[in-house]
Amino acid sequence: MLGFVDVPEPRPQLLTTMRSAEPNLPPRIRSIPPGPRSLALARRLRAVESRNVTFLSDEFPIFWRKARGSNVWDVDGNRFVDLSAGFAVAGAGHRNPRVVTALRHQIAQLLHGMGDVHPPEIKVRLLERLAAISPFADTRVILANTGAEAIEAALKTARLHTGKPGVITFTGAYHGLTYGALAATDRELFRVPFEDQLNPHVVRAPYPDRFRPPPGIAGSDDICAASLAAVRDLLDGPDGDSLGCVIIEPVQGRGGDVVPPDGFLTGLAELCRARGVVLVFDEIYSGLGRTGRMFACQHEGVLPDLICIGKALSGALPIAACLGSADVMESWPESAGEAKHTSTFLGNPLACAAAIASLDEIERYALPERASQEGMRFLERLQTLADRYPCIGDIRGRGLMIGLDLVRNPGTREPDPELAGRLVTGALRRGWLLLAGGPDGNVISLSPPLTISRALLDSSVRMLDDLLLEATAGPSAVAD
Ligand SMILES: Cc1ncc(COP(=O)(O)O)c(C=O)c1O
Repeated sequence: MLGFVDVPEPRPQLLTTMRSAEPNLPPRIRSIPPGPRSLALARRLRAVESRNVTFLSDEFPIFWRKARGSNVWDVDGNRFVDLSAGFAVAGAGHRNPRVVTALRHQIAQLLHGMGDVHPPEIKVRLLERLAAISPFADTRVILANTGAEAIEAALKTARLHTGKPGVITFTGAYHGLTYGALAATDRELFRVPFEDQLNPHVVRAPYPDRFRPPPGIAGSDDICAASLAAVRDLLDGPDGDSLGCVIIEPVQGRGGDVVPPDGFLTGLAELCRARGVVLVFDEIYSGLGRTGRMFACQHEGVLPDLICIGKALSGALPIAACLGSADVMESWPESAGEAKHTSTFLGNPLACAAAIASLDEIERYALPERASQEGMRFLERLQTLADRYPCIGDIRGRGLMIGLDLVRNPGTREPDPELAGRLVTGALRRGWLLLAGGPDGNVISLSPPLTISRALLDSSVRMLDDLLLEATAGPSAVAD
């Protein structure tokens, strides 16, 4: 059931200038962030939003007013460079002009359609577009409004296809926070308060994380083989008959930008195929060019049964999708009037228009290839920092999805979330938007727009150098 097809080679580099993705302006700070307007908005927000949602402190956050390309402006008139692409959403740049034009055109036509009754015409165009970029030979798609919803669709599809309730997920995994997705998400902070309402048939296997191998494979000489053996043991163990789905991020995003060893995904696909288990790749973060290929799984030429995408799909409006091979997706019965899985805003015309325009931009500017080239160069430059600052325990990534794993002690690799926090707030004050990720919050996660200029990537390395110098006792002192 895993249909392996030839994965196309990357197309030649199209061009290096991206008029459409301008501007790529340097930071400009007028009022030390967060400025007075941001602070005032934080007070108003605190009075009306559930206190769980937005982290508020004297140093955080800024409130965005506008954005374009790699830049974000806040309400105090400061201009930032967004090294997070707004959670890896603005792959083709913030407020990409062609996306804006497509939205203007769509606004003039239709704002809402009946996703599963009288669908908007543009939904068909998006589905055809997704089928065209999909690595499956014969693709079927379920649209969703968020990444987590796309994961729900994938989990339900696997359940229908195999008739089995059990799911194997991985340590460090993040699949979203709705209940199906949450059960597969690893971090206890998110999961534990709701554990008694989650799918009890979920089991966890160790993700082959070279720098922080999880229990079960720590100490092994070959973490790839050890992790595959752990999955095999689960599939062939006493509960194996109830396991119908394996879900994995081909590169972990919120888990700390963790890249599995070569061969791991291929081995995983073989294990699943041999047992009729549905393999889901969650490419909500890694997909659509971020890692240097349209889909991260194409680095190994491995094909799962289902692929979830979101975030950069529209680069702006909430839309995500579960793509699948026809044989697995057609486990869903034909609708006889009531869709078993749908939602009011499924295939929203505006979101579809933004997605088509965004996919056009990703292809027009060969953004996967650009992510690959610029990512390699960026990683090399960041490596020079890692060579000088022992507090950078590890630097890893693929394309423009890069993590700096900060440690208190290079010997013990003890995570240093405080240092990560200082870098994030220090960068903010200088006009750079950074995110700290990983299970311990100690990984500086770099996922800029794929359209970011080389000059800005180079200055971000200088900015990190300055911050590290300031935040630590300096390269030589730290090395002592
Ligand atoms: C890999 C992955 N899967 C799923 C999700 C959930 O997506 P959403 O926040 O749109 O529900 C995320 C969000 O960060 C993600 O990184």
